[in-house]
Amino acid sequence: MVLEVSGVSKAYGGVHALEGVSFGLEKGQFVSVIGPSGAGKTTLIRILNGSETSDGGQVVLDGAHMELARGRDKRALQKRIGTIYQDFALVDGVSALQNVLNAALPDMAFGPAVLGLFGRERREKAARLLERVGLSDKLDTPVRDLSGGQKQRVAIARALMRDPALLLADEPVASLDPVTGRQILELMQDIQRTEGLTVLMNSHNLALSQAFSDRLIGLNAGRVVYDGPVDRAGEDVIAAIYGEAPR
Ligand SMILES: Nc1ncnc2c1ncn2[C@@H]1O[C@H](COP(=O)(O)OP(=O)(O)OP(=O)(O)O)[C@@H](O)[C@H]1O
Ligand SMILES: [Mg+2]
Repeated sequence: MVLEVSGVSKAYGGVHALEGVSFGLEKGQFVSVIGPSGAGKTTLIRILNGSETSDGGQVVLDGAHMELARGRDKRALQKRIGTIYQDFALVDGVSALQNVLNAALPDMAFGPAVLGLFGRERREKAARLLERVGLSDKLDTPVRDLSGGQKQRVAIARALMRDPALLLADEPVASLDPVTGRQILELMQDIQRTEGLTVLMNSHNLALSQAFSDRLIGLNAGRVVYDGPVDRAGEDVIAAIYGEAPR
């Protein structure tokens, strides 16, 4: 098991964003978290990648407890998780290559990091990853001059720069047109299948979640209301996932 989440809860004031959420991810799975707006999907991703702390419960990545890790151990664990976002979260004014290289900064000593001395190995790796996502001709292009789909490709390359065990994707295609969005998911699926990457995605697009995932996790009002294969989630199950639940 790459990731084991057990009994994770998070409240904001009186709002229970997550309540006792438990599930596990096997290596190489492509899993989509679906559910209505406010169900807790983004909160879950933010807890998994360490940008938010849970109120309780356990997150175990590759056998290591994330909530117990501190300092260097915590950074090493966070490095095992890459995240891509709806708004790409890239640095617009610098090149695609530089954006991918920046992912390596936390692994570098202070001096070389400040001076931007990434070294040949890292530069070659970043270039290779940009080729992998289909951007071999855009290495030196400032990100602001790229299309949305190309930006998301840069973000995927950046997420892969630290060899993550798990790729989290929060609405990765919500800002893209349908054709481009599908191409991005095809790329993610290709990397999942060829490199055994584990993917956990949130998406409002049910059809795309069904088309690209091995498994769906349905969240409603912070609780897991479905966890199983795509083909066993019929119309009634989907309606229940998206239905109103008492808070
Ligand atoms: N920083 C915060 N402060 C207060 N409340 C928050 C915060 N973040 C999330 N919430 C609340 O937690 C609940 C879950 O929010 P979350 O963003 O995880 O939902 P979501 O499933 O990602 O929704 P959407 O599909 O609209 O993106 C919501 O009621 C939201 O208002
Ligand atoms: Mg969200």
